[in-house]
Amino acid sequence: TLRRDPSTPRVVVVGSGIAGLTVALHAVEGGCRVTLVTKDVLEHANTRFAQGGIAGVMFDDDRIEDHIRDTLVAGAGLSDPEAVRVLAEEGPGRIRELIALGVAFDRASDGAFVKGLEAAHSYPRILHAGGDATGTAIEKALVARLRESEVRVIEHAFLIDLVVDAASGRAAGVELLIEDERRETLPADAIVLATGGAGQLYAHTTNPPVATGDGIAAALRAGVAVTDVEFVQFHPTVLPAVCAVPGDASRSDAAPFLVSEAVRGEGAVLRDEQGRRFMLDRHPDAELAPRDVVARAIAEVMVEQDGRPVLLDATALGPEGAAASAKRTVRFLRDRFPTIDAAVRARGEDWAREPIPVTPAAHYLMGGVSTDLEGRTSLPGLYAVGETARTGVHGANRLASNSLLEGAVFGARAGDALAADADTGRWPAAASFPRGAAPEPPVPPVADAAPPFTRGALQELLWEDAGLVRDEAGLARAAARISGWRAQPREAVTEREFEDENLLLVAAALVSAARARRISVGAHARRDETPPVADEGDAQPANTPPRAPD
Ligand code: SIN
Repeated sequence: TLRRDPSTPRVVVVGSGIAGLTVALHAVEGGCRVTLVTKDVLEHANTRFAQGGIAGVMFDDDRIEDHIRDTLVAGAGLSDPEAVRVLAEEGPGRIRELIALGVAFDRASDGAFVKGLEAAHSYPRILHAGGDATGTAIEKALVARLRESEVRVIEHAFLIDLVVDAASGRAAGVELLIEDERRETLPADAIVLATGGAGQLYAHTTNPPVATGDGIAAALRAGVAVTDVEFVQFHPTVLPAVCAVPGDASRSDAAPFLVSEAVRGEGAVLRDEQGRRFMLDRHPDAELAPRDVVARAIAEVMVEQDGRPVLLDATALGPEGAAASAKRTVRFLRDRFPTIDAAVRARGEDWAREPIPVTPAAHYLMGGVSTDLEGRTSLPGLYAVGETARTGVHGANRLASNSLLEGAVFGARAGDALAADADTGRWPAAASFPRGAAPEPPVPPVADAAPPFTRGALQELLWEDAGLVRDEAGLARAAARISGWRAQPREAVTEREFEDENLLLVAAALVSAARARRISVGAHARRDETPPVADEGDAQPANTPPRAPD
């Protein structure tokens, strides 16, 4: 078989979340020689923080067409319908594959899967494991399978850059920084970017420290098509980093912590400081309105109350609803949401008795490296999967719990495509994408870039000027500051410094794309939106895809 043949194509997968692990397993099972590199240890990808679950049509009275419609509506007209169909149709098979690998999705006493509801789903089609520990359960099962497989694993291997063969124009390997110390080049016939998103661009994020956009930045440097990076999803309900007792240093070191939308799916409500349910006036679905609507509503209420968090009220949860006794609510919250319950209680809060403070935080990057339905990018031999990729399923806004599903479905497709391409000798192939013909908006002079670069300063800048609601003045300020920082002489040596360069590059692309998209759509909200101008010869003035920043 190919596996025993020394000429078997070498595939390097970069990243170890659900998408990277799935592509590696499918490629190795298809006969490819696979090395998986990851900058931390295998388990430390963003996948393990996913709480709510994985969406998929797993119940007889649910319908593929309904999952497709919900996903397209959330995507605000910018999803690729073909990609969405693939996601919904192949999703159940991939979920069954996870079950076969040992992921124990929660079941009721009659053995049926427990149904979970999240915002903008017309049916409670979310499966969860360990209550609110779905990502951890999936990551564990995939890592266990990977460790039994023939995939070679290199941990603490940071992607410095892609190696592109000048003669053939193909991706030919990766340059790595191992253990933050020594550089190594790994030749490959195909490379898969599965490095996740870039939540660390923002001062407030649900993402772990590893989410620094490394794969997207490497793609940008190599001139690979990157699309839709202005679409950043902000999760509405996150326990703030400093919680409850201002000035109490003992509580100030807790990191922001996601409180799953599934908590609102179970009936928790949002209140302002006066106890008013403000979502009732804002959307017919109230707390289960689309995520961007809820996140922006919370941000507006926070402005009205001088920046203080709003309150998430879960005190009536439990089988009897509002009539629940506090004791039963304590038990319900502990059993249904054990991870969140532990985090809330570690901060000294009792959410069965008192509402808890929550704020929005950056959560998910809808855009990324443009791919076809099998993960191929515009560079021959380069593939992208998971949050790094822009497959077209999320459009301008991702439907809750579609991200684990995307990693499973498109990870499998990319892995199978790698094996098939290798078999047919067509391998590796490239896909073609529009590269974005529109000129970049001009970046003002860099004189504004006086303050020295720090990661914290970049994160605050993006939070303020390219966050939940944007306008040209703020985006232009951000562009000038970023361009100034990028122009400062610096040479990256350590992993942290390489990450900083990646964040700066992805920030430049994000701000550039946000400036080019002059209307509000999905998660991209502009307070200064100008209606699109119907002008011959300028058919898409407000929605042109971005190019890589110079
Ligand atoms: C959540 O549990 O609220 C997050 C789920 C997701 O981002 O899809």
